[in-house]
Amino acid sequence: MPLLTKSPANPLAHPLAAPIGQGVDAIDTPALVLDLDAMERNLARMAAFAKAQGVRLRPHAKMHKSAALARLQMQAGAVGVCVQKTSEAEALAAGGVRDIFISNEVIAPHKLQRVARLAAALHSRGGRLAIAVDSLQGVQGLAHALNNPVTDPLIDVLVELDVGHGRCGVTTPEAAVRLARVIARHPALRFAGLQAYHGRAQHLRSVQERRAAFASVLALVQAACAALQAAGLPAALVTGAGTGTFALEAGSGVYGELQAGSFLFMDADYARNEADPEQPQFEHALFVKTQVMSVCATHAVCDAGHKSHAIDSGLPLVHGAALEYCNGGDEHGILRSTRPDVHLPAIGDVLWLIPGHCDPTVNLHDFLVGVRGGLERGVVEQLIRVDARGALT
Ligand SMILES: Cc1ncc(COP(=O)(O)O)c(C=O)c1O
Repeated sequence: MPLLTKSPANPLAHPLAAPIGQGVDAIDTPALVLDLDAMERNLARMAAFAKAQGVRLRPHAKMHKSAALARLQMQAGAVGVCVQKTSEAEALAAGGVRDIFISNEVIAPHKLQRVARLAAALHSRGGRLAIAVDSLQGVQGLAHALNNPVTDPLIDVLVELDVGHGRCGVTTPEAAVRLARVIARHPALRFAGLQAYHGRAQHLRSVQERRAAFASVLALVQAACAALQAAGLPAALVTGAGTGTFALEAGSGVYGELQAGSFLFMDADYARNEADPEQPQFEHALFVKTQVMSVCATHAVCDAGHKSHAIDSGLPLVHGAALEYCNGGDEHGILRSTRPDVHLPAIGDVLWLIPGHCDPTVNLHDFLVGVRGGLERGVVEQLIRVDARGALT
């Protein structure tokens, strides 16, 4: 299936914003631009790493929300993708992705009906759906939803363990065993193992801090695996990991699958992590192209504000320039020189911003403008739809 689409989800985001075949100069601003060469190098590095480590790769597609990029990841060796929301799973399935794990809890009965329908649809296409649970209500609701269809497809159910993130998940091995027992009793459900992801550990800055955090993750996961084994319900798979710690999960001998997502685009926040020599290094591939629209003695102003990029993990970096981006509001960015010998840019100059956090930045755009040949002299090759933009349910 082609990566390229000429029909963005929102007709107002007109393709004239990114004329295919023309140089980067022709991209209207602000625009979310993907350096395809850098993205493909990141993809290849991660795929080679997972293969060498003998672990499966199931990247988190909540980051890019694009069926085309999910398919590309699977062509490069990923077994499937993770999503966080039922509607994300539906959007990617509609775009031809057949192996999807909702690494999150779904509770509302009407949503569980959609989960059941999607499980049946993927099953009939030779694919599969998996889902995480952390409560008896979650398992019972899922089982109830799966009873309704004529043919009950098997859905893989993973018990989520809270391994220190402090979000969803059961907190003890005993609770994991209790849930696994209920899952195993239901013919439409298959107990597939443990979901164990520590989000906050990803962004601990030093390698030492991340290793220390992962040591306690591993201790809890091992205890849960031992308890499940003793109960006659061995966890066939432990899945988790993000861009900050995936080498630790991969080398643990316990995790069988890596869920990292951000490595593909690499945002400014992840670039602040101390590099782990055990991990491959990734390049920034996601940029916001912006133009300077006003200049005064103290600062310049560009046309990308926080409607163009998320600011939850900090303001964007200005690529290759000694400029600091300061918050100028919804549609403006204030640029200040970081060195007395560096002049402010001139009106009309183009700059490339590296977003602080890739996931919520992508969700602000209908499509990514895929550029081949670099940001200086590259050519627009593709428009990549953000299929699951706004898919929050
Ligand atoms: C459950 C889960 N797995 C994996 C990831 C991927 O992490 P990252 O994009 O930081 O690599 C996330 C991100 O928030 C997540 O919530």
